[in-house]
Amino acid sequence: MKTVNTFQKLKDNNEKITMLTAYDYSTAQVLEEAGIDGILVGDSLAMVALGYENTYNITIDEMLIFVKAVAKGAKNSFIIGDMPFMSYNLSIEQGLENASKMIKAGASGVKLEGCNEHILKLVKRCTESGIPVLGHLGFTPQLMNTIGGHKIQGKTSEKTEEILMSAKKLEEAGCFAVVLELMPAESAKYITENLNIPTIGIGAGIHCSGQIVVIDDILGKFTDFTPKFVKKYADIHHTVLSAAEKYIKEVKDEIFPSEKESFELDKKESEKLCCSTK
Ligand code: KIV
Repeated sequence: MKTVNTFQKLKDNNEKITMLTAYDYSTAQVLEEAGIDGILVGDSLAMVALGYENTYNITIDEMLIFVKAVAKGAKNSFIIGDMPFMSYNLSIEQGLENASKMIKAGASGVKLEGCNEHILKLVKRCTESGIPVLGHLGFTPQLMNTIGGHKIQGKTSEKTEEILMSAKKLEEAGCFAVVLELMPAESAKYITENLNIPTIGIGAGIHCSGQIVVIDDILGKFTDFTPKFVKKYADIHHTVLSAAEKYIKEVKDEIFPSEKESFELDKKESEKLCCSTK
C-alpha cells in the first residue's frame, strides 16, 4: 500500500519516486500493477482527455468523475487529485471544501499550484484537516496568463533562490512534496538539495527526488507535438490506428465476426427458423 509516507521514505533512501498521471479506471489498474509510487489525476485531463484548449475550464465536479474512476482502479495506490483553476483561490473555506470533495471521491491527497499567503494558509488548513498537499512550483499552468506563456522558470540564480524560498514556505506549511515544472536541471538540483521534502520534476532534469509526466505523452497518444522533456515509451497512436483500420476492413469484407466470435443456435431451433422463413 502506497501512502504519503512512501514519498519521504524513498527520498530518505535515495530512491527515485515515480509518478504518472491517469484519468480512467483501466489505466489506473495498469499503473498499480506496474508498481507506480503515485498517481496524479491531473487537470491536464482537460486537454488530453476532454479536448479542451487549456486547463482553465475544467471544474471540480468534472475532476471528481475522473478521480472516482482512478480510485476504483488503483485501490492500493497513492492518488492525488489536482485542484482545478479557481477551485481553491476564492477563500480558504472554498479550497477546503473542494479538497475534501477530492478525498471523498477517493483521492489520498490534493495538488495546488503556486505559493502566496492564501495558498500557504490553505496548505496548513488542509494538512491540519488530514488532507496531504502536493505543492507545484516553477511553471504553473494555471498561472500561464500572468507568467506570459510556456516559459522555462528559474533561469537565473536569483529566480532559483526565489523558487527555493517558496518551496521552503510550502514545506513549512505542510506540503509533503513539491512538483517542480519546467526549469533547468541545475536549478531543480539546488532546490532539491535544500529541501527536506521530496521534489517531483517535470521538465526539471534528473536531480529531482522523483519524476512525473502526463501518461498520454509517454504512451505516444498524440503525434502533433511532443514536449522536449518527454520520452515516448510506446506508440499508442499508431497501435490504435492500425487496429481500427484492420477492424474496419474486416467488417467491410465480412471477415469479422467469424464463427469463432459468434454464438450457435440449438439445431432444433435452427430448423424451426428455417421452416418458418417467410
Ligand atoms: O495536470 C497535470 O497533469 C500536472 C502535471 C504535473 C503533470 O499538473
